[in-house]
Amino acid sequence: MDPRAMAVETEREKLEPDLERIARASLKELGDIRIDDVLSFIDRGIEKMPSYMDLYRRWESQQWAVGDLDFSLDRQDWLDASEMDRKATLWSHRLFFNGEERVTSTLAPFVWAAPSPEVEIFLSTQMVDEARHTVFFERWWREVVGTEAKDLTGLLKEIRPDANEGYNELFYDRLPATSQRLASNPKDIDAFVEGITLYHIVIEATLALTGQRFELESMREMGTTDRGFYRGFTAIARDESRHVNFGIKVLQEAVREDAARFAPIIQKTLVECLPLISNTLDPPDPRYITDYGHTESEILQFAFESLNKRLRAIGINLAA
Ligand SMILES: [Fe+2]
Ligand SMILES: [Fe+2]
Repeated sequence: MDPRAMAVETEREKLEPDLERIARASLKELGDIRIDDVLSFIDRGIEKMPSYMDLYRRWESQQWAVGDLDFSLDRQDWLDASEMDRKATLWSHRLFFNGEERVTSTLAPFVWAAPSPEVEIFLSTQMVDEARHTVFFERWWREVVGTEAKDLTGLLKEIRPDANEGYNELFYDRLPATSQRLASNPKDIDAFVEGITLYHIVIEATLALTGQRFELESMREMGTTDRGFYRGFTAIARDESRHVNFGIKVLQEAVREDAARFAPIIQKTLVECLPLISNTLDPPDPRYITDYGHTESEILQFAFESLNKRLRAIGINLAA
C-alpha cells in the first residue's frame, strides 16, 4: 500500500455507522433523516470532540447545492395553504432568511481574528455556508412565495422582520458591534470569545437550531419530507451542527486555558442575551405555534436545555 495513501486515510475521522450515514447523506437522502438525528452530531461531538481539521473535512464531504433542490411541490403546498399556515411560515422564514444574511455579513472579522490557522480555515468554510443558506432562502422566497423584488437588497428589505426587539438587538446591534470590535482589533481575544458565544452559542446553537428542529419535526408529522424545503433545511441544520461543534470547541479550549479570564465573559454575554432569545422565539400570534401541536414553553424549554448541554461541554454553568 502506498504510504501516502495511508497517511491520508488516518487523517479522516472515524464516525459511528449511524453518524456516517447522516454525514454522507445526499440532499435526497436527507429527506429520510430526522432533525434530532442530525442534532445528535453535537452531543456526540461533545463526548469525543472533533479537531478543527476534522470539522473542515466534514465540510468538504458535506457539500450541497441550492440549485439541486426542486421547489415545485413546495409551491403547490403554498397555493393550497390556509391563511394561518402562510402567516406562520412567513413569520419563521423572515427570521431565518434575514438572520442568515446577517451572519454572512458579520463573519469576516472573525476569520481575521482567528487565533490559529486551523480556526481561520474552519471559519472560512462557515462563511461560504452562511452565504449558501441565504441563497437557499432567496430561492425559496422567489419560487414559493413570489416577490417583485429585483435583487437581494430589495428582497431583504421586503422580508426584514419588524417589531421584534430581541431580534433587532441581537442581529442589528450586538452582532455587528462585536464584529466591528474584532475588525478594529483582530488581536482582541476577549472580543473573539464574546463573539463566538454570541454567534455560535446564542444565535446558532440556541435560536436557529431550536427553530429548525420544531419546523422540520412539524413537516415530518405532515408527511412533507420529500419537499425541497425539508431537504435543504436539513442540509442547513447539518451545516449548523458543524458550526456549533466548532463554537463549543473554541470556548471549551478558552475555559481550559484560563477560566478566570474567559468564563465570566461567556457568562455575562449569555445572561445579557437570554431575554433576547425568549423575545425572538415569541411569535406575534400564539397560534403560529399552538396550531402546529406545540407550545411556546415547550420550545423555550428545548432551547434552554440545548443551551445547558452546550455549557456543560464548555465547562461553565449559569448561576440562576
Ligand atoms: Fe446558517
Ligand atoms: Fe451557521
